[in-house]
Amino acid sequence: MSLPPGFLDELRNRVPISRMIGRKVVWDLRKSNQARGDWWAPCPFHQEKSASFHCDDQKGFYYCFGCHAKGDALTFLREADGLSFMEAVKVLAAEVGMTVPQQDPQARERSDRRTRLFEVTEAALRWFRLQLQTGAASEARDYLARRGLDDETQQQFDIGFAPDNRHALGAALREKGFDEALIIEAGLCARPDGGGAAYDRFRGRIIFPIKDGQGRCIGFGGRAMDPNSFAKYLNSPETPLFDKGRNLYNIGQARSAVAKGQPLIVAEGYMDVIALSRAGFQGAVAPLGTAVTENQLHLMWRISPEPIIALDGDAAGQRAAQRLIDLALPLTGARQALRFAILPAGQDPDDLIKTAGQGAMTALLGDAKPLLDLLWSRETEGQNFDSPERKAALEQRLKDAIARIPDELTRQHYNEEIRRKRRELFGGSWQRGERGRQDSGRYRGRSRTGSAPVPIGATRLDGPNAGASLLEGASLLLCAFRPHLVAKVETRLERLIPQDADRASLLHDLLTGTESAAGARALETLRADAHLGLTPSVIRQQDEETAVTILSNLLDRLEAERAVGTELARAENEIQGEVDEGLTWRMQQIARARHLAERPDMEDSGDMNEDRDALSAQLQDWLSGEIWRKPPRG
Ligand code: UTP
Ligand code: MN
Repeated sequence: MSLPPGFLDELRNRVPISRMIGRKVVWDLRKSNQARGDWWAPCPFHQEKSASFHCDDQKGFYYCFGCHAKGDALTFLREADGLSFMEAVKVLAAEVGMTVPQQDPQARERSDRRTRLFEVTEAALRWFRLQLQTGAASEARDYLARRGLDDETQQQFDIGFAPDNRHALGAALREKGFDEALIIEAGLCARPDGGGAAYDRFRGRIIFPIKDGQGRCIGFGGRAMDPNSFAKYLNSPETPLFDKGRNLYNIGQARSAVAKGQPLIVAEGYMDVIALSRAGFQGAVAPLGTAVTENQLHLMWRISPEPIIALDGDAAGQRAAQRLIDLALPLTGARQALRFAILPAGQDPDDLIKTAGQGAMTALLGDAKPLLDLLWSRETEGQNFDSPERKAALEQRLKDAIARIPDELTRQHYNEEIRRKRRELFGGSWQRGERGRQDSGRYRGRSRTGSAPVPIGATRLDGPNAGASLLEGASLLLCAFRPHLVAKVETRLERLIPQDADRASLLHDLLTGTESAAGARALETLRADAHLGLTPSVIRQQDEETAVTILSNLLDRLEAERAVGTELARAENEIQGEVDEGLTWRMQQIARARHLAERPDMEDSGDMNEDRDALSAQLQDWLSGEIWRKPPRG
């Protein structure tokens, strides 16, 4: 729906954002500066005790330093109350005393048409409800009783009945003044292919009305009572009101339940949602007879950051779960996660509750697995990784999957967790454990080629990244000599982007406990690198704690050097984009990092040889000296 230009701005500017948000949070008045419209509170979007949620009246923005939730007044209404955009506009407009303008005449016509469609679906709903009380529905009432749907439940879900009659609904609606075209457009009746009078779409079925977020009826699902019926469930076709990919069964009631602290549960069918709700899990929704869409995922995430998927424990349910993994991976992030409750084979939530009770469902939900676990099982279960090729193939598949996650931080955590699982799976055979046991690593026996000329590919000290290259080389070498250090800094190693392909292979070898020709080549080059001046004996003479400290400090410096470029680019981007409250803070960090990375003793010497010698000398100092035992900086 389009609004006149300027309307939204005016809407946002009418009241300070803090007044609206202030109803949902308790301001930390000591940290806030009321006069400047600068507010702090514990974040309403995630659990915390400290006040990392910031709200700025001047800019009309909020930002949480903890969970990174951010936006304006409309975003807040949508996220906090689960409203759609237009709903939020209306709520805010009512609050500030503005009227949402009517759209252009065409849009007005469309909106009138929608109003009429809502009227006809509501009329059909009431009619289906009434039919359930008639004599013709005694079989249907028995069926519902058998399935445990008492009167209260029937009322809560507006369950109805469509008698086995081709013209009853159509006639009843026309009698109420709805014309046939409207009835057909609403998907209630259909015209036969060969022409002729329209007939009722739902016949001899239990009716499940489907409502939008505001509780308006947009379509129906009908369950056949006859097991031989051509389709167990028949749903309304797509209509101007009913977009199957953009709605979820029971979304309205689920939203209120989730707001009260219930988990959001995604089941496969109408009956599952109802059974869950009856068992006390009112935050249940289901897609509408089709696979879950991206749009439906976003709809769920607006209500809950971590919906629990409870698909049937049959082949179709499992396939649906696999599809969901692939659909969700490129969307997943800090407030957009999924969990999967694995149902016993052949059961859906309705069956489980019926056979094992509510407690079994509670246990199952509590045991729901993160998306990553499902991804891991999918790639590993029932497979044998007894060859390097198979291990490599697995690794490639996981890498490809994780590469699809857009959020950097989430990606990092996935990588970390995958490494942990890999170590678990391969135990001693495919990991660094073997080398870890003999402390000095697989290269212990070889001696350093002391004064050999610096080979091609060695650390270059004459380029703009001389420092970074040297630091990187030293870090890799240190890890190769003391492989058990890898585990201590693996997240950081994973983030390194080595300067050349051989070093990248070496890093990969170190992280996975494999050995590649390119990795060995990189290692030889590093060992022979006179600039590094690292000998196994120098490295081995350090005790464990010192070795870790040295490595961490090498990585600190390396990261600091590299971060400067990336972070500045990112910060610049954000200045042009949305206002980010973290910006100032981050700029300070960058400045600090740069300060640390630039070593005063290396500046302006103007002589490459001097630079190189000084850097090498310092490296050797670090490795043998006492300086690392003290905190290296203030
Ligand atoms: P299920 O076959 O799992 O049905 O379909 P159910 O929910 O367990 O139903 P009961 O317990 O047998 O009554 C799950 C969902 O798939 C859609 C419906 O939305 C249903 O709720 N479906 C299923 C169809 O649209 N058409 C069908 O023929 C079958
Ligand atoms: Mn079922």
